[in-house]
Amino acid sequence: MGSGNWASAIVTPWHNSSIFNETARVKPAIVQNRFYAQTGYDHDLRAFCRKHRILYQSFWTLTANPQILAHPTVQRLAARFRHTPAQVWFRYLTQLDIIPLTGTTSAAHMREDLSIFELELAPSESDAIDQLLR
Ligand SMILES: NC(=O)c1ccc[n+]([C@@H]2O[C@H](COP(=O)([O-])OP(=O)(O)OC[C@H]3O[C@@H](n4cnc5c(N)ncnc54)[C@H](OP(=O)(O)O)[C@@H]3O)[C@@H](O)[C@H]2O)c1
Repeated sequence: MGSGNWASAIVTPWHNSSIFNETARVKPAIVQNRFYAQTGYDHDLRAFCRKHRILYQSFWTLTANPQILAHPTVQRLAARFRHTPAQVWFRYLTQLDIIPLTGTTSAAHMREDLSIFELELAPSESDAIDQLLR
């Protein structure tokens, strides 16, 4: 079962209680949420998902985050890897076990989206992007 548009404020109180385990007979396998600064990038909700072995899937990953894609940190990594900022961003997220849901009308973008696993960010590089999400 998949679910979407979860609000951190509703889910977070469940985090340290047993209510979720006790009341949910069928737990969602995946949660699809808007991934942007206004919700603190779902920091607490993602912790909840990790704890309950629920996959977290992001949408608006590119469209809501132009400031991340344009940030010198991401631009520098893109230049170093000879890939695009979007690819660096998507790969960073997959290394956090976030599954970016995207879409494209462009064959070139689709190829780029599918080839992000050519990259591997070092811990210090991921840490540098972490700072942009705070
Ligand atoms: N559950 C929900 O409530 C919900 C809400 C919103 C969206 N969604 C779904 O989420 C999916 C993704 O939509 P989204 O808007 O969230 O996606 P997104 O990743 O934020 O943005 C997609 C846009 O980015 C461009 N793009 C894709 N790959 C790119 C790349 N490698 N480099 C540069 N630009 C790239 C595409 O334009 P080009 O065509 O020019 O490549 C497309 O317009 C859709 O299937 C949508 O239905 C679900």
